[in-house]
Amino acid sequence: MTTEFAPLNPTSTTTTRRLQFRAYGGPEVLELAEVPLPQPDRGQVRVRVRAAGINGRDSKMRAGLFEPGATAPAVAGTVGIEMAGVIDAVGADVTEWTVGQPVFGRTAAFDAVAGHALAPVGDIVAKPDSLGFVQAAALPVATEAAYRTLRQLDVRDGQTLLVHAAAGGVGLMAVQLARLRGATVVGTASEANHDFLRDIGAIPVTYGDGLVERIRSAAPQGIDAVLDGSGRGVLPLSIALTGDPAKVITIADLGAAQYGVRFSTEIVPIPEAMAEHLTLFESGRLRMPIEAVFPLEEAADAYRRLDAGHLRGKIVVAVA
Ligand SMILES: NC(=O)c1ccc[n+]([C@@H]2O[C@H](COP(=O)([O-])OP(=O)(O)OC[C@H]3O[C@@H](n4cnc5c(N)ncnc54)[C@H](OP(=O)(O)O)[C@@H]3O)[C@@H](O)[C@H]2O)c1
Repeated sequence: MTTEFAPLNPTSTTTTRRLQFRAYGGPEVLELAEVPLPQPDRGQVRVRVRAAGINGRDSKMRAGLFEPGATAPAVAGTVGIEMAGVIDAVGADVTEWTVGQPVFGRTAAFDAVAGHALAPVGDIVAKPDSLGFVQAAALPVATEAAYRTLRQLDVRDGQTLLVHAAAGGVGLMAVQLARLRGATVVGTASEANHDFLRDIGAIPVTYGDGLVERIRSAAPQGIDAVLDGSGRGVLPLSIALTGDPAKVITIADLGAAQYGVRFSTEIVPIPEAMAEHLTLFESGRLRMPIEAVFPLEEAADAYRRLDAGHLRGKIVVAVA
């Protein structure tokens, strides 16, 4: 059991615990702090967080990648985009949600790895009993990103989609949603993930030297569209395979503009992204594997595991 965080008062009604950082760096800069309980504004609810999914964006923010040259944020930085929990307060004008309802979705700020977080009323959905808090917390970001990018690429029945980093959270959702649309999917991944990719309906291809030839042999019919969830220099070969940068979208390569490729950032509300998919998660037709669950007190280790890469699915922080 890690003991790097000082014990805090878990019973306070005026404060809550929150993972934060006061300097940019690796997971070692993360600290569990006791902070004032956030109060919901108009159009917001406060959620008693039971589980938070963690994402590459958290690590990029913590490392200061969005503030080049700075060594520390102006105010304590926070982490976590997605969570599942129980509403424990609502804003003055909120009528659609009530205290006690289990929900999951996106937080108003990037502060889901905490005891409590605020969420906009339009970015949460009711959590069905059949989904646990850990499972529900793993769904919003990956489902939304996969849903959005497949729509932007207009992936349709009979087409062939190439997904780079297909075993990652976004990648494995994109594989499953594209298969539901009737597309053939080729996915890049390390060999350890190939059986898993076959299991969810993709043709696996190992990345690295000779990738283009392997993709052509896996999809002799040609590639109609590409989703790059890897960000590791695959845009030129993706354009070569489709013959058109407009048929390629990345969510991870910040150099996209120089190739004329769209970097997708136009997030859609979680209720829209989940609308057609929630019952499929409940029935098991859509799956989001959980790579590991860490308690809040060991959240820095969760980020060490995330940063080490080669995940199959999501890492979730559970809040007791
Ligand atoms: N723009 C947006 O709206 C948006 C939204 C969500 C996420 N993102 C970004 O999208 C990226 C993917 O997110 P994620 O949550 O899916 O990441 P993730 O779960 O951390 O997955 C990363 C995957 O990358 C694979 N990988 C490692 N090296 C690779 C290589 N050389 N070629 C192909 N795959 C490789 C790993 O699979 P193997 O084990 O098989 O190597 C791993 O499964 C991150 O950079 C994230 O920040 C952006």
